[in-house]
Amino acid sequence: MNKINFLDSVDWSFPVPISYGPNRINELPDICKTNNLRRPLLVTDKSSKDLPFMKKILQDLHRSSIKSDIFSDISPNPIDDEIYKGRSFYKEGKHDSIIAIGGGSGMDGGKAISLIANNSENLWDFEYEKSPIKKLSSFPPLICIPTTAGTGAETESTAMVTNSELGMKLCVWHPKQKPIMALLDPCLTVSLPKNLTAWTGTDALVHGIEAFCVDSLYSVADGMALQGLNLIGNNLLEVYKNPDNLNARGAMLIGSCLTGISFLKGLGLVHAISHMVGAVYDTQHGLTNAVILPQVLNYNKNEIRSKINSMNFSIFNEPGNFDNFYSNITQILDTLDIPDNLEKIGVKDNKITELAMKSSKDSAAFTNPKKASIEDLEKIIKKTIKKAR
Ligand SMILES: [Fe+2]
Repeated sequence: MNKINFLDSVDWSFPVPISYGPNRINELPDICKTNNLRRPLLVTDKSSKDLPFMKKILQDLHRSSIKSDIFSDISPNPIDDEIYKGRSFYKEGKHDSIIAIGGGSGMDGGKAISLIANNSENLWDFEYEKSPIKKLSSFPPLICIPTTAGTGAETESTAMVTNSELGMKLCVWHPKQKPIMALLDPCLTVSLPKNLTAWTGTDALVHGIEAFCVDSLYSVADGMALQGLNLIGNNLLEVYKNPDNLNARGAMLIGSCLTGISFLKGLGLVHAISHMVGAVYDTQHGLTNAVILPQVLNYNKNEIRSKINSMNFSIFNEPGNFDNFYSNITQILDTLDIPDNLEKIGVKDNKITELAMKSSKDSAAFTNPKKASIEDLEKIIKKTIKKAR
């Protein structure tokens, strides 16, 4: 039965210009010049800073007389203190724009810094759940460049940052801050280690699944979710086995971008729980999602029944019911060597209630197709800690 009401009126937004192609990173100096960016600050995460392509990007910019610098004091789960440090670095360096480059954390760090770079606001005034601040000076131009496929975070200003006081990962954004472009170059993803290829790829898969299962009339996003899932389903195992396959890397990068856009609709309990597990135990986001996914699918089973056939067809190229879909998903997780419980990635069973309460407040919980009480969340978390599939 169709739960969507086509008599509703809706407002859809569509993100930003996207340039895709192998070696398109070489165009960055020209892109900066065209947009009159003279002192861009590159923001990335600690682990990406020393990658060979990062040095080349800086050299290319300098060769084109573009004075850039790099800020890389961003953790795998970015923390508010790091964002404030980034703002000081931006101001002291008299920068005029931000290039957010990296996996989810690097890009989220850059995006969060861009929200407060030109003002003296508290980062948490930009929390997603609050009404947007009205009186603000303009935001710096922002370019997003993903180096994983991925986070899908390149087309929006939304960023997940840990609030160090609350011990919660929260979403910050402003509707008026949008990247001026997303630059997608699959060559940047080729050197990604095998485990991160699997974890970030599964994150992209979960984005598509959770977004498609959100019950709202957002057909633009639904189309992107299914096409993104198709590209990911047909290429994730290939890039895991053959990391140098640039064609498959390209398909994954586009797939990740599409499922990333699709979660304009919202996400679900996988992300709600994963955000808080990440904030408390500093676990890798995609890996955490991958472990949690099967139990949330089970929880949502009856509510997502009408969506399963389309998703099974997109990802696995065959029609299927819930049981087929569930077993196909767990098979992919097994092949990608995803652990079968959260205990194996360092999550203890002594904070289940705290995690459940925090997850219930995450914005992703509000769009899950089935409402979840604290007790429901506790049950799901308990299972994922001990036996997730
Ligand atoms: Fe995610």
